[in-house]
Parts: sequence; structure tokens; C-alpha cells
Amino acid sequence: MTARGTSPSRGTAPSRGTAPGSGPAATADPGGARSRQADPGTARVGLAAVGLGRWARVMARAYAGSEVVELRTCYTRNAERRAAFAADFGCQADESLEALLARDDVDALVVTAPNDQHAPIIEAAAAAGKHVYTEKPVAVSLADVRRIRRAVRGSQIVFACGHSARRLAGLREMKRMLDSGQAGSPSMAEAVFGNERGLELKEGDWRADPAQCPGGPLTQLGIHQIDNLQYLLGPARRAVAMGRAPRPGIANELAVGVLLEFEESLGYLGCNWLSPGSFTIDVYCTAARLRYELDFTWWSKSAQTDAHTRLTRTVIAADSADPDARVLRADDVPLSPRDHLREEIEEFGRAVRGDDAVEVGLAEAVSNVAVLQAAARSLADARPVEVGEIMAEIGED
Ligand SMILES: NC(=O)c1ccc[n+]([C@@H]2O[C@H](COP(=O)([O-])OP(=O)(O)OC[C@H]3O[C@@H](n4cnc5c(N)ncnc54)[C@H](OP(=O)(O)O)[C@@H]3O)[C@@H](O)[C@H]2O)c1
Repeated sequence: MTARGTSPSRGTAPSRGTAPGSGPAATADPGGARSRQADPGTARVGLAAVGLGRWARVMARAYAGSEVVELRTCYTRNAERRAAFAADFGCQADESLEALLARDDVDALVVTAPNDQHAPIIEAAAAAGKHVYTEKPVAVSLADVRRIRRAVRGSQIVFACGHSARRLAGLREMKRMLDSGQAGSPSMAEAVFGNERGLELKEGDWRADPAQCPGGPLTQLGIHQIDNLQYLLGPARRAVAMGRAPRPGIANELAVGVLLEFEESLGYLGCNWLSPGSFTIDVYCTAARLRYELDFTWWSKSAQTDAHTRLTRTVIAADSADPDARVLRADDVPLSPRDHLREEIEEFGRAVRGDDAVEVGLAEAVSNVAVLQAAARSLADARPVEVGEIMAEIGED
């Protein structure tokens, strides 16, 4: 089978109006000499899990039994953890990344290592011609973003980044209502994502380090909502952020608020690590107000997440020239459940086979980090920061 190239929209911000599944396409490529090929036809794409912590298990459960992809091996530095993962998920284990990359039965990597380890792993994978799915954020530092972009562009691999939340049924429906004009024009959106992780955070944890994890929950949780807001409203242009670091001994912010300017609307992004899980998106439009809520306790059970979400549309049901006589009506919007993580990995697998295109590739991943870093710089410098300032620093290769 022919290996596929990466997104043609490299290094550019995603445009509003990208329909589900019609984002940056994996274009056909005659196959580089170094590219390893997925099995032809409908044979399953061989995956290797790299970085075997909490999220690796969530991902492996999400694609278990898939007709498109199959977990064949795994690697993490700790031998016991490696063996346990291999036993639990019925795959082989390799003692080094090099050994894993040398295997002929591995077409692609699922990278769930910490954010600052993504760049070296992706560089090695790209050099070995292995396709890459990596978790979000694709990287945190701009230097790592540049390394990853250079490695991917210099190869023939398919590259996908795990921004799966936009695939949730409610997000897809909000996007449909915005694109069809059914909700009218959006003027403002509020996205909140929080959980209680900061209450157990210890000094020395990478999540407590403002350099490795700028804005704490902004980097780990806010990045999901940055992708969602850009998916719904188009590219963000400017960020103004404020944060609070309320726990003694923890230098990092644990509550962050960011105002984002979009071309035609404003966005508020709120992230905290100080409260029971929350995930909401409100979009205020001329014809309707949309409110999406997700029960965070189902976040990592991707087959069931959608069943624990709710999208409400509020409209003026009875209009009147007298504002005091108008009547509002709120309806639940019916949603068809889907599995956001399995869908994402299977789309990646089909792109590796040459049958599909990845929706979230390099361009979207980089654009999301640029917004994240604009907000982080605004936190550090106490000034509004243009996203273009960050994109210019990422530069073009
Ligand atoms: N999409 C989502 O909702 C979501 C949720 C949570 C996390 N994530 C993302 O998933 C990634 C992992 O997060 P996590 O919470 O699973 O972290 P984690 O529990 O700390 O697991 C990461 C694992 O990577 C391994 N590792 C570290 N350096 C490595 C290297 N150089 N090569 C191979 N393995 C290495 C570590 O194990 P060893 O010491 O054994 O190597 C560690 O257990 C992050 O990018 C995070 O942002 C996404």
C-alpha cells in the first residue's frame, strides 16, 4: 500500500467552515523510500503504543476490536509498566523505541508520552517512515513545534493530533447549526473545562511547572477548548489572559481566564484544576443560544461520553415588539452518540491505508499551540498577545 503524505494545509490556521471529516486532507504520495507501508486493502493497520501512562490505556480501550487498526506492540521506559500494558491489551512489547521502530508489523505510532517527549519520538518515527498519531498538545515549546513540523514535512508520514472533543455529537451539531445559519450569527462563546487535579498537585510534578505546563489547566484542559472554539468560530487572533496560583508551594496557575478575539466574535476560555470536573460551551448567536454540557466523569470512557452530554437550544418562541412580552423556549437537541476517540484513531488508520484524510493534522495542532502560547505569554507579560506574533516566531521552514 502507498504511504500517504501529510496535511496540505501545513502551518496554516484552520478556517471556519471546515466540515466534519473534510479538514486537511492526507494527499496521495507515491511513497518515499523510507516509508513503511500499511497492509494493502482492508487489512488492519498495525499500531504501536508509546508512552504507557494513564491516557495510553484509555486510547487502547477505545480502539480495541477495531476492524481498521490493531495494537501490535508497545514501549515505555519502565519495564514493569510495559509488561503490564502488553498483558492487559494482548500485544507484544519492545525494550526500546529503536526496536519498535524497526518492526515490519508496525505501521504507525500512537504517542501518549508527556508533552515534552513528543518531539524526539515523532522525529524518530518520521525518520523510520512510521505514521504518527500524537496526543494533544502536539508540543508546548515553540522549539518543539518547529522540530515536529520539520520532521513531519520532511517525511511521507500521515500525521494526526488528538483533538477529539470536536467529534463529540454536540460539538458536531453546534457546528452544523452555525454553518447552516440556523442559529444566526455568533457574537460570543464561553468555554469552560476544569477538574480537581490541582488539589492533589505536588511541587516537582511537571504539571506544577509553568515552563512545562504554562497556565496549568490551560495547557492540559484549555487546549481542548481552544480547538473547539477555533473549530466553531474560526482562527483566534488575540488573547488576553489572567491567572491565579492559589496553592502554597505551587508556582503554576491553577485557575486561568482567557479572552479570545475571533474575526467576528469574542470567546472566553475558563480553565481550572480546583473544582469537580466541568466541561461546558455556550455560544450566543442572533437566532439562538446554544449550551453544551458534558459530564466529565465520562470523559475517558469514549464509547459512553456522548450519552452523558446535553445540548440545549434557547430561542425566542413568541416574539413581540414589546421586549417584556417575548417568551423564551429551551429545547434539548437530539444527539446521535458516537465514539470520539475510536472514530479519530480509525480515521487515522484509514488515512494510513490511503482511504481517508485526517481531520486534525499538523496545521490545526500548531494553530492550537499558537493560541495556547499567546494566552501563556499574556499571562506572563500582562498584555494582549496577537496569535500572529507566536506564528511568526514558529516561522516557516
Ligand atoms: N485527550 C485527552 O483528553 C488526554 C487526557 C490525558 C492526557 N492526554 C495527553 O496524553 C499524553 C500523556 O498523558 P498521561 O496523562 O497519560 O501522562 P502519564 O500518565 O504521565 O503517562 C505518560 C507515560 O509516558 C512514559 N514516558 C515518559 N517519557 C517517555 C519516553 N521518552 N518514551 C516513552 N515513554 C515515555 C512514562 O512512563 P515510563 O516512565 O515508563 O516511560 C509515563 O508513564 C500527554 O500528551 C497528555 O496531554 C490527553
